[in-house]
Amino acid sequence: MRLMLAPMEGVIDHTMRDLLTSLGGLDRCVTEFVRISDLLLPPRVFHRYCPELKQAGRTPSGTPVYLQLLGGQATPMAENAARAAELGAPGIDLNFGCPAKTVNRSDGGAILLREPERVHKIVAAVRRAVPTDIPVTVKIRLGYQDRELLEENIGAIAAARANELTIHARTKVDGYRPPAYWEDVARARQWTTMPIVANGEIWNPADASRCRQVSGCANLMLGRGILCRPDLALLIKADAQGSELEPLAWPQVQSLLLKLFEQIVDNYDDKYVGNPIKQWLAYQRSYFPQAALLFERIKRLRAPVEIRQALLDQPPSLAERARVA
Ligand SMILES: Cc1cc2nc3c(=O)[nH]c(=O)nc-3n(C[C@H](O)[C@H](O)[C@H](O)COP(=O)(O)O)c2cc1C
Repeated sequence: MRLMLAPMEGVIDHTMRDLLTSLGGLDRCVTEFVRISDLLLPPRVFHRYCPELKQAGRTPSGTPVYLQLLGGQATPMAENAARAAELGAPGIDLNFGCPAKTVNRSDGGAILLREPERVHKIVAAVRRAVPTDIPVTVKIRLGYQDRELLEENIGAIAAARANELTIHARTKVDGYRPPAYWEDVARARQWTTMPIVANGEIWNPADASRCRQVSGCANLMLGRGILCRPDLALLIKADAQGSELEPLAWPQVQSLLLKLFEQIVDNYDDKYVGNPIKQWLAYQRSYFPQAALLFERIKRLRAPVEIRQALLDQPPSLAERARVA
């Protein structure tokens, strides 16, 4: 089984990739999307999105990071993909799943699923432009409005010789609302021999097991679930092998938060340095009650010394926990 870390714009940058892959269990990451219009972007842009390019496109723990491109025009997508490959990206990932209005209005993301021919052109052009030993992967949703074009889109992507396809098992219109329709991923698998990765609503090892069963996919992509439980990939792999693994306890999660803080404190304006911490806590609090308490404590803090102190403090007492609950 392979487990991929989902790309998450504004949430999973190179620091988060480093922290999450350092725990083990993840086999691949993807950068945030690089928006391609009609220009060939300068190398510094690729390095900004993927500082790992300086280390052969791998996180410090050795996990490959594919460079994600988003755009609606085949030629500039191909030129930029070729440049990313030259700069050392171990793979190129193409985004046809983004639901954001601004992105869709400017001809990128999930809106392209309404035009399988264009999807084909883009994927084929990128595949041709990138050396054959560098994988070109694609990520889609089930469709834009509905699933009517799913089979055509899959055919278009397979005919363009993409190396792998991840399906986020919802339409654009479904947004991020549960459920994820893993059974539609199973249907999609019947139309192609291209390897397919299933994605959506995997929050714990039991979900992973059901998703693999229903979709028939061996390989999964983890998004919000691994932000809630940073050791989710390890737990899923252990569960699949029938072994028991002690889940991360809150103090270990707290030390990850502190690690994140120390890595970003010098790069952010003081006013904003708490934001990534608060953002991560907002995910974690659905699993760790202590994260909800810590979030409440720091949500209005701005000064880095105060935030650091809150992160260093002992986990709140049970009494305090009960008060918040
Ligand atoms: C805040 C946020 C940002 C995202 N950014 C991207 C992105 O840049 N590219 C992409 O292909 N998907 C993006 N996604 C979608 C995720 O990669 C994933 O497909 C989705 O969250 C479903 O998986 P999950 O239910 O495990 O979270 C984003 C999702 C969220 C919540």
